[in-house]
Amino acid sequence: MGDSMLDYLSIRVLAEDSVEYDSPYLGQHGISLLLTAGRNGVTYRILFDVAQDADALLVNMERMNIAPSSIDAIVISHNHYDHIGGLARITAAAKRTDLPIVVHPETFRTHFTTSPFLKHIGAPASDSPSRIEEAGGRLIFTTDPLEIMPGVETSGEIPRNTDFEDAGLSIRQIKDGHIQEDQVIDDTSLFARVRGKGTVVITGCSHAGIVNITDLAAKRWPENPIALLLGGFHLIEAGEERIEQTAAALHSAPVRRVAAGHCTGFRAQTALSRVFGPAFEPLRTGLEITLTGE
Ligand SMILES: [Fe+2]
Ligand SMILES: [Fe+2]
Repeated sequence: MGDSMLDYLSIRVLAEDSVEYDSPYLGQHGISLLLTAGRNGVTYRILFDVAQDADALLVNMERMNIAPSSIDAIVISHNHYDHIGGLARITAAAKRTDLPIVVHPETFRTHFTTSPFLKHIGAPASDSPSRIEEAGGRLIFTTDPLEIMPGVETSGEIPRNTDFEDAGLSIRQIKDGHIQEDQVIDDTSLFARVRGKGTVVITGCSHAGIVNITDLAAKRWPENPIALLLGGFHLIEAGEERIEQTAAALHSAPVRRVAAGHCTGFRAQTALSRVFGPAFEPLRTGLEITLTGE
């Protein structure tokens, strides 16, 4: 399955909408995942999204014995406040200089909803590019796939091919002073490959469509099975038909294991659980999944 594969990958859920019974961790609306990726004796730590509440995230990291200074790079899935909120504070806590932070060039656009009232839901003003860079971050703006290390790369912009998926929200942006629909074109995933296991797909909200994202990973490495699909699938407002089509498409992809939460929604989690059986589990704060290469 190729040379650039990881020897192991662990994914720790630092922040998510739910917590387990008797959990020591704080939940919040949003998602933040820590990837610890190992290859040839070298370990690299990638933070994927920071949710929206830096205080809660830092408490959880402390309780999990994860030093913010151990983060080597940050990847942001898209501009929503529940994925990028507090990025400047988390960057400052990492106490690094030129900490690489990979974002889509459109990340800091004006991005709002008018339902039930006018509200900005993009990157908060307190997480502007200058604040992030003053805190020690080095923003890397690209629409292309970017290799973070051999075995881990970003998806780049995701082609939207399926006829049953959309961004799942009614949001607007401003272009040249005019109001436009916003399809969250910046939605980006992370793809990792573990030796002998296959491709791991990690998503923020999947506004590009979880089937489109999975198809892209399957096409990029056709020799690999999708060992794990983990993240938010944004099916919370989807109709039953889309949910059923999605579960069936993922199952026949074939995806071997699914861990979904955040904006996936209870109905879609139930449908995925029905289709995948014990290969499905809901995401929750503190969950850790480790894949060891063979
Ligand atoms: Fe989102
Ligand atoms: Fe989200």
